[in-house]
Amino acid sequence: MSARKLLILPGDGIGPEVMREVARVTAWLGRKRGITFEVSEDLVGGASLAEYGVPLCDEVIEKAREADAVLFGSVGDPKWNHVGFDKRPELAILKLRQELGLFANLRPAKVFDALVDASTLKPEVVKGLDIMIVRESTGGIYFGDPRGIETLPNGEKRGINTEVYTTHEIERVGRVAFELARKRKNSVYSVEKCNVMESGLLWKEVITDLHAREYSDVTLSHMLADNCAMQLVRNPRQFDVIVTGNLFGDILSDLASMLTGSLGMLPSATLGARGANGKMPALYEPIHGSAPDIAGKGIANPIAQILSFAMLLRYSFDLQAEADMIETAVSNVLASGLRTADIMSEGKARVGTDVMGEAIVRELDKMAG
Ligand code: NAD
Ligand code: IPM
Ligand code: MN
Repeated sequence: MSARKLLILPGDGIGPEVMREVARVTAWLGRKRGITFEVSEDLVGGASLAEYGVPLCDEVIEKAREADAVLFGSVGDPKWNHVGFDKRPELAILKLRQELGLFANLRPAKVFDALVDASTLKPEVVKGLDIMIVRESTGGIYFGDPRGIETLPNGEKRGINTEVYTTHEIERVGRVAFELARKRKNSVYSVEKCNVMESGLLWKEVITDLHAREYSDVTLSHMLADNCAMQLVRNPRQFDVIVTGNLFGDILSDLASMLTGSLGMLPSATLGARGANGKMPALYEPIHGSAPDIAGKGIANPIAQILSFAMLLRYSFDLQAEADMIETAVSNVLASGLRTADIMSEGKARVGTDVMGEAIVRELDKMAG
């Protein structure tokens, strides 16, 4: 096959630290499985602001378009808190999602057996948990107009953001959720606030219609977002696939991460529509941020970044066996008792980012023979 083009964007804070551990895994793939990539790497976020004065260069957007897949670290640095929304580091990821049409952000939350005691919830509540949050990622209140901060005649200020969803935007992400459910436990919960928001009401109507027309074999339930937050803590295993808007999906997926033991565990894939040339735009990133509080200390958990790379192998390159191997290696390393500091576990060895990465590759080596 032609070269697999991979664009790596480490970003800020712990982004470059956890990305270094992925490099060990790509090296292993070449060494033991003969799988290679044409890799290029660029600056984004605060790192790009410091070098080029913008959080995302046009050339990087072009490279992202040309790549078969993008592996993203994280962006954000308190150093840039004073700059406006047209310049903040976070704009890098928001713009990439928009420019590449990456409207479906798949955020799986799976509990590894070794970590049932690491959740803040009781083991019997989280054991075996495997849910998929499908978060709409190019619309909603993140991008709606009008937006801004305006000064009123009396001198007071007013901050404005607008939640907007169209039929098309809701339908295409709904379709992703129903398709995924068919390959899983065949259940979709659609989550909005139709009791207070027109955009939520339209969301519910469009999902209901789509279900009746094309997916009546899938069990569909509707839930208000506030109730969903509560239900995720009360009884998370009632869920299989959750489909929701941009903001609710962001919040609910951070919440779901703690069911699995740590925010440092959760990967994601953000996918767009397949083009006429058969290519699917795709970006993979952990759901966590740049973690400024621990950046530079060598203690960040690299598992979310490594599992994001496993999702990349699975969805963009159809390398199912290799993706399975990486997930199994992570599971085995956790079973052996190794823990980074973010994972709550009493009496277990605390290791740094590099030791965790090395252990995963050693496990891969063992599996490959
Ligand atoms: P965060 O996810 O960076 O950190 C929240 C907490 O979780 C922190 O205590 C952090 O130390 C911990 N944590 C996160 N990932 C970890 C890991 N891999 N290993 C160990 N501990 C980990 O969220 P925040 O502090 O609210 O945001 C920090 C910055 O990151 C902000 O600028 C925010 O905008 C940005 N952010 C970026 C992305 C992204 O690039 N996709 C995602 C979320 C937040
Ligand atoms: C995420 C992040 C981003 C979001 C920020 C950094 C723009 O929190 O990917 O979860 O809100 O989408
Ligand atoms: Mn988030």
